[in-house]
Amino acid sequence: MKRCFILVALATLFSLPLQADEGMWLPALISERIADMQAKGFRLTAEDIYSVNQASLKDAVVLFGGGCTGELVSDEGLLFTNHHCGYSYIQKHSSVEHDYLKDGFWALNRSQELPNPGLTVRFLEKMEDVTKVVLKGYKTKMTEEQRQALVKKNAEKLIADATRDGQGLKASVEALYYGNQYFLFVFREYRDVRLVGAPPSAIGKFGGETDNWMWPRHTGDFSIFRIYAGADNLPADYSENNVPYRPRKSLKISRAGVKEGDFTFVYGCPGSTQEYVHSEAVRYIQDVSDPEKIALRTTRLNIMKKYMDQSQAVRIQYSSKYASVANAWKKWQGEEKGLRKNKVVPVKQDYEARFEEWARGTRYAWTTEMLQNLYAQRNPIYRAYEYYNETVRAVERIQMGMGRRVDPKDYYQPIDEEIFVAMMEAFDKALEDSYKPEYFLRKREEYSGDMLAWKDAVFADENECKALSEALDRHYSQKILPVVRELDRAITLRYRDYMQGQMEFENERTFYPDADLTLRVAYGKVAGYRPADAVWYNPVSTLRGIIEKDNPDIFDYNIPQALRDIYAQGGHEDQPVCFLATNHTTGGNSGSPVLNEWGHLVGINFDRVWEGTMSDLVYDPEICRNISLDVRYILFIIQEIGHAGYLLDEMHFVD
Ligand code: ARG
Ligand code: GLU
Repeated sequence: MKRCFILVALATLFSLPLQADEGMWLPALISERIADMQAKGFRLTAEDIYSVNQASLKDAVVLFGGGCTGELVSDEGLLFTNHHCGYSYIQKHSSVEHDYLKDGFWALNRSQELPNPGLTVRFLEKMEDVTKVVLKGYKTKMTEEQRQALVKKNAEKLIADATRDGQGLKASVEALYYGNQYFLFVFREYRDVRLVGAPPSAIGKFGGETDNWMWPRHTGDFSIFRIYAGADNLPADYSENNVPYRPRKSLKISRAGVKEGDFTFVYGCPGSTQEYVHSEAVRYIQDVSDPEKIALRTTRLNIMKKYMDQSQAVRIQYSSKYASVANAWKKWQGEEKGLRKNKVVPVKQDYEARFEEWARGTRYAWTTEMLQNLYAQRNPIYRAYEYYNETVRAVERIQMGMGRRVDPKDYYQPIDEEIFVAMMEAFDKALEDSYKPEYFLRKREEYSGDMLAWKDAVFADENECKALSEALDRHYSQKILPVVRELDRAITLRYRDYMQGQMEFENERTFYPDADLTLRVAYGKVAGYRPADAVWYNPVSTLRGIIEKDNPDIFDYNIPQALRDIYAQGGHEDQPVCFLATNHTTGGNSGSPVLNEWGHLVGINFDRVWEGTMSDLVYDPEICRNISLDVRYILFIIQEIGHAGYLLDEMHFVD
């Protein structure tokens, strides 16, 4: 009796129920969530979100450039996404005479809109459960190889059928829940997408690395593009004769704004999450992977920063590299902290114990034990794999030795030399010799472990550099990578059972598939949070905050003079800039429309708060917040800074 009580108490204490506002839902199955959405304030129907037969909100959302999201905001193909999603295209159009990154860019008419070869957007035509078709012919006695071959064959047929009439149609069959379910996704891809507008970086990237992943945030992270099509409205290669694409649906824009508690939802393409993994996977991330990678990147960032602070020229050369190293570095810090705070490892261990108790005598018995053993095999070599990525591959000189192109315009050798010494020392110290190539061990002997002397040789002598680089690269791709892949395959296979087992074990719980860059809906509400004891963050930031941060001497906070002047005129203090909400998002959701209860556009998603980045593994409603740009700030910048108010003429407003 007493034991039973303790078990029940433990179970309630340590269970992993779906947390409020957690979830990235498949639009085609949104009818399963619609009652909950409506209870939380949503005013439309499942058909309004996703329909194959009639225009629905899905027709206004695109996968932008293969890694971000964008949304249609006019009936003439106008599209919003983030500044950081359009960044590389804006950069390509920039030169010393026209520095669109620095000064912004505004097409005054359609003929000034700039084509971007290679940039595509994808509309979802439909998605459907094809599990039965994909597994047609499957027999339980098949080997895994036979099953895979069957899945491949059936999927290829589905894809061929779905894309038969061409016209930019693309399809993929995605394995959801580690292969327990298969979905067919059919897209139409447009390939004439032109740049229409972008704010100066001092607005679009305001706060830079200092404010990245942080609240309070004031980044005007948007850019504007237009999709062009052939006269038949179908995808076409770039041509002067193309016309603006006429979408089935474009978003209406609300200028009513948001406040704490308001219902919002995010419609976009989250990239990757792992919500159902074993405690050992989490323990590895929290105790090994995140801390070690953070330390390695701290070293690299400090080296870059030292030289960037000394020279404006070096700062320009390395700012983009610095940003990409710093982005994950900051995210991991929040992730590690959040995993510990939520005691995710012990909570999952307890869950696994209860799972095994339930699974005794079933086909799921010992699944978690087998995963534990597989991770015990995988983790050491996976760690070596990560070290190669974070040390060897972080040295540009080694990259060059492997034959990769490093832009000489953005190369500063003293930084690379110092990084070489620090990273190679870390690599050597952290890994057992069995993970290093023979050549490395021999040379280390030759130089008696003196990394500085070795560095001098590698930077002075082309052959020395090549020999080291190739040895490392060969070892990585022949001895490390194949083993990691093999073990990952074995683990994924185990997860297929574990996932199905979890679904039966917790048959009351509603599951959602891990993110895989397919279209999803996340919903929640506008909400502040408590980042630390005695601190409360309000969910809305304003122009006042930009002026508070403004400082011509700090690169990240040096705003355009025009913005100072407008502010000085008065009346714009309360201009909203960004807001927080509880929507469950991840990388790839950048640029996603943030919609209100009527499906009207109120913002664009562009980030999360760093304290909540463990939501890729476990969602904590207390501190997981997505950060959105208020659509009214976009309109304000278009008009006041871009003097491009004519763009508003083609948008539809509802107040
Ligand atoms: N943290 C955001 C994301 O993960 C924004 C990254 C770009 N901005 C930056 N300051 N690095 O993509
Ligand atoms: N900035 C991220 C992106 O590019 C979104 C932030 C996140 O939620 O990871 O998709």
